[in-house]
Amino acid sequence: MLRFGTIGSGWIVDEYIHGAKDSGLWELTAVYSREEQRAREFAQKHGAAHWFTNLEEMAASPLLDAVYIASPNALHFQQAKLFLEHGKHVLCEKPLCAQADKVAQLQGIAKERGLVFLEAIMFLHLPQRTILEEALKRLGTISLVKLDFCQRSSKLDGYLSGQLPNIFNPALETGALMDLGVYCIYPALALFGEPESFSADALMLPTGADGAGVVTLRYPGKLVTLTYSKLGQAGANSDFQGTEGTLSVESISRLAGFTLRTRQGQVEELYGDDEKYQLMGWEAKDFYRYITEPQACAQEYARCAELSLLAASWMERIRKQAGIVFESDS
Ligand SMILES: NC(=O)c1ccc[n+]([C@@H]2O[C@H](COP(=O)([O-])OP(=O)(O)OC[C@H]3O[C@@H](n4cnc5c(N)ncnc54)[C@H](OP(=O)(O)O)[C@@H]3O)[C@@H](O)[C@H]2O)c1
Repeated sequence: MLRFGTIGSGWIVDEYIHGAKDSGLWELTAVYSREEQRAREFAQKHGAAHWFTNLEEMAASPLLDAVYIASPNALHFQQAKLFLEHGKHVLCEKPLCAQADKVAQLQGIAKERGLVFLEAIMFLHLPQRTILEEALKRLGTISLVKLDFCQRSSKLDGYLSGQLPNIFNPALETGALMDLGVYCIYPALALFGEPESFSADALMLPTGADGAGVVTLRYPGKLVTLTYSKLGQAGANSDFQGTEGTLSVESISRLAGFTLRTRQGQVEELYGDDEKYQLMGWEAKDFYRYITEPQACAQEYARCAELSLLAASWMERIRKQAGIVFESDS
């Protein structure tokens, strides 16, 4: 077993810890929170023997081999860098960084030191991606793809009543593109490569964060639209339309609910859904394999790194065109 620590105390950390422990490959030894009481309670809740309120001390500690970072996006770069520089493997939540050159810099540090630096984005790690790729081969020529992740934020009511939740605070490099758009960009880049051109628009909130956005990626013979929102709930699925059929995907982030409808009218249910902790468990398993079997996994790991860098670079281009600006851009 490898030993890991966590940064952040939100619900996603609960799910990751559950998935990592369930894999039987990881032991949680330490947690970090800015608040002492929260750190202690979080450690107790998850059975971690140690807790930290000082990140430097945690990074330098011999109590862990790796860290899972689930802090606000604006902190990912400095926190990942700190742990890599102290010889710890890093699994960092999506999106890694707002600027692609920062992702490249972290990848460079990890490579130099023989460490794994990985993005916790489900698309890279879920085995049902193979089912998706096989299904797409049955669609004939694909001309139109709609990738959609619109989910009314649980923090929207607070925002509408005058609060500034983290998710709508651009100082933390959040907003709809960074939070949900990233899930639409990954399949587009992984399945179809880089587009030849694109257009991007955003619905900006008075806070300076984007609440929703629309992107069109143009490929030879194909248009791929990305729609994402924190302001309203989607009623429609993502889908891939081809000359021989259409594949609908209920959740593009979880890669869940695949239905193939052939041109002849046949309907096949190809994949259901899993619990969130199980989805996170696949990330924990890949993280472990890339650390413990570096040679066998070299190609797979390199592909993850390539896609993370590509996604960061396209997110940056989209932000630029749509007018989503962060302080760290200058
Ligand atoms: N993979 C997924 O499905 C998924 C789902 C949700 C989120 N995420 C990603 O996970 C990351 C965290 O998301 P989240 O919604 O949990 O974020 P969040 O609630 O805004 O912050 C995460 C944690 O960081 C600390 N924190 C909060 N505000 C902070 C601030 N202003 N400065 C420094 N630390 C602060 C808090 O921990 P302490 O108070 O204990 O220090 C908090 O639990 C993001 O990168 C997000 O994209 C991924």
